[in-house]
Amino acid sequence: MATVVLVYSGGLDTSVCIPLMREEYGFDRVVTVTVDVGQPREDIEQAEDRAAALGTEHYTVDARAEFVTDYCWPAVRANGDYQGYPISTSIARPLIALKAVEVARRIGADAYAHGCTGKGNDQFRIEYVMRTLTPEIRIIAPMREGKRLPDGSREPWTRSEEIEYAKAHGLNVAQTHDRIWSIDENLWGRSIEGGRLEEPDFAPPEEIFQWTRGIADTPDDPALVTIGFDNGAPVSLNGETMEPLDLVMRVNALAGEHGVGRVDIMEDRMLGLKVRENYECPGAVVLLAAHRALEALVSTQGELKFKAAVDREWGELAYRGLWFDPLKHALEAFIDSIQERVVGEVIVRLHKGSATVVGRRSPWALYSEDLASFDSKTFNQAESEGMVKLHGMQGRMYWSLREHLAQ
Ligand code: ARG
Repeated sequence: MATVVLVYSGGLDTSVCIPLMREEYGFDRVVTVTVDVGQPREDIEQAEDRAAALGTEHYTVDARAEFVTDYCWPAVRANGDYQGYPISTSIARPLIALKAVEVARRIGADAYAHGCTGKGNDQFRIEYVMRTLTPEIRIIAPMREGKRLPDGSREPWTRSEEIEYAKAHGLNVAQTHDRIWSIDENLWGRSIEGGRLEEPDFAPPEEIFQWTRGIADTPDDPALVTIGFDNGAPVSLNGETMEPLDLVMRVNALAGEHGVGRVDIMEDRMLGLKVRENYECPGAVVLLAAHRALEALVSTQGELKFKAAVDREWGELAYRGLWFDPLKHALEAFIDSIQERVVGEVIVRLHKGSATVVGRRSPWALYSEDLASFDSKTFNQAESEGMVKLHGMQGRMYWSLREHLAQ
């Protein structure tokens, strides 16, 4: 019996893949896997309902806790950012693929299928993980391949063709709510694109946001939140130790209420296409700001400078979905060695769309109030004189040489 594991979101594209797998690709056992990384509950239920309607063997895998500790926390440690927003879709894809791999191994699958088209980043991120872990299993991307025409050639599916095809196979998808915008959501962030947002000068309408209030609707009084860190990862909120998943959900809610975490950017996709993206990621914005502030307190100047470059490289590798790349592991070895000292608390003020760090403390602070304060006795300021005289010596030499040689 030929078995295929379909990475299943429950959306139109992946639903169309189910009958396609049977009719066109000749699989008699279609296994659907939906991975819960914090997308809306109704999306998961829709996937379950549609899988049942289309008669697949279905698995929903709750990967939320694993997503936070093994994907979001490494992103916090690396200040995980791409072109100015906290990466979210890109860190969930490897985990979604990993769960598909686990199912495929367990049931002995012959192939994978996924609903990625040929335009986006997801095809790279998902296939990389599948190919790394199970190189022997074939991968099929029906939406990328396109609809087969009678003469054997192929062309991209149109939305109405997909709806028609689904209908002919017993699935009525007429009233899906996700038609205007293309949304990808996990507990670390929401990404909204498509529709009129494809016009870079079209201001995002209020309706695309779900997690964050518009500034006009935010409280007039600021709120203070205290984030506790251990080993570079958040462990407590306002003094209360929390499970990682609960902590992210709480910070999302608190920061979202104050309108924190909306990002509107032009993003360079892996294929070189520029795309207009809107994100809302209230929790990620707060936790990353807090983490950076704590690193600034406990790391040496040289460490901070070097780590900025390491973080940037890590962010690009993660964006490209190269989750198991040896360079990524090497960068993490450096990042983690610094994180041992990223312990302490950071106070963040949430107000009218901004998250401002207003306090930080750590047993590892490389900071002494005594040394920095103006009336210090431990630091003899007269001793600075010699150092000041030598400051910029090579540059001064250059200028004096210029003067001599020009004559
Ligand atoms: N550009 C983002 C990334 O590549 C998000 C892509 C998915 N977003 C969406 N709205 N379908 O990580």
